[in-house]
Amino acid sequence: MSLPRLDTNYLVPDVTRDHVAALQPYVDLAHRMLVEKTGPGAEMLGWTDPAALMPPDLRTRIKNAASRLRGKADVMVVIGIGGSYLGARAVIDALPSADSSRVLYAGQTLGASYMADLKRQLKGKRWCINVVSKSGTTTEPAVAFRILKKQLEDEVGREAARELIVATTDPDPAKSALRRVADKEGYETFSVPPDVGGRFSVLSAVGVLPIAFAGADVDALVQGAADCCSACANPNVLKNPAYHYAAVRNLLYRQGKSIELTAVVEPQLYYLVEWWKQLFGESEGKDHSSLFPAGVQYTTDLHSMGQWVQEGRRNLFETFLCSYSLALKVEIPDDPENADGLNFLSHTGIAEVNKKAFEGTALAHCDGGVPNMTICIDDLTEHSLGALLYFYERACAVSGYMLGVNPFNQPGVEAYKKNMFALMNKPGFEAEHAEVAARVANARVDEDIAFG
Ligand code: PA5
Repeated sequence: MSLPRLDTNYLVPDVTRDHVAALQPYVDLAHRMLVEKTGPGAEMLGWTDPAALMPPDLRTRIKNAASRLRGKADVMVVIGIGGSYLGARAVIDALPSADSSRVLYAGQTLGASYMADLKRQLKGKRWCINVVSKSGTTTEPAVAFRILKKQLEDEVGREAARELIVATTDPDPAKSALRRVADKEGYETFSVPPDVGGRFSVLSAVGVLPIAFAGADVDALVQGAADCCSACANPNVLKNPAYHYAAVRNLLYRQGKSIELTAVVEPQLYYLVEWWKQLFGESEGKDHSSLFPAGVQYTTDLHSMGQWVQEGRRNLFETFLCSYSLALKVEIPDDPENADGLNFLSHTGIAEVNKKAFEGTALAHCDGGVPNMTICIDDLTEHSLGALLYFYERACAVSGYMLGVNPFNQPGVEAYKKNMFALMNKPGFEAEHAEVAARVANARVDEDIAFG
């Protein structure tokens, strides 16, 4: 059984084990609020027990649905935004055992060219839709579903399309328009548990169905999360890497480090960073305080952001997320001419070069005043990734409580929606329409500045 580990070598002297140990009483308090369900947002803790969130009968139903859909479709379009797609995408992209080419995404953007491209890509393919929206009313996925449902119905007919659409949403038809449509049309449905928020939902049907469709072992994924959950029963901050990570973030934030940069060294892991950004950003970004979660992918971004990280403003720390597939030997060949001077690497695996690049980067950034730590996972298996997802969720909850916020709400995301609906004169927003439209018009202080 392998669980994430935390390498803290490059935190010293900014953060030592003694500093972290001194936070134990605060960690204990946050831990108790979580397990005794006494903290803010206690009604949203359905994610804390992965085995209960994904019991065997539900897993069987999901696996059956995935295999039924795989029999009828080569490609699944997951329609969802934020927590309704990022977790699935993170796992599917990262897992070598998942076939990421079988899963496409929509509803995460209102970009017209993206949608036009996707529609073109789907033509002539056997495809299905998994529409995921807890509220069932989010504009981006609702618009995408309307467009893609019509395309599917036009291509295969309304009857056949019903068999190719699965909806994952709130179980209560009074709360979710998507549930009402799904029930009326007779789509297969799965529920987003009411006590699980979008960004904590990857280990519910929200993430598990697309991950199963991509061919991954969802039992091992859930087991990994369950094993990490059991390990988190120990709140000792020196023995619990998830809590240690939460405490370190807190200490560095108090030292004026206002940005956490999560860095991965394999492009396939990048959506884990996107998922992490939402998890921590939406959970902690409240009361005009908290860390800004940012992400980079090395070595690629060392050639763009590397200069800033090494010598820019010293208001950040870095968390590497590493898993080395050293077993995957993609060898650098020998070249008798050695014009590039790289023969010292002949017969070396590219992963070994990547590992040295990472080691050199962590040291250089520490020397440059960027304290850093590394979350290590031994391999990219379902078990390891399930454990990693839970590690982050648990760390996020504890970190949010230590920061003094409710990690489980997101009141701020409504502001843009209200303006958008008012500007588009959505029924129910008529009263705000004139005022918001006037404010947008009046925000124009002058002509655009143009070359002249
Ligand atoms: O974490 C959250 O709650 C949000 O990011 C949601 O996941 C996102 O806004 C999508 O919401 P819904 O699933 O209701 O369409």
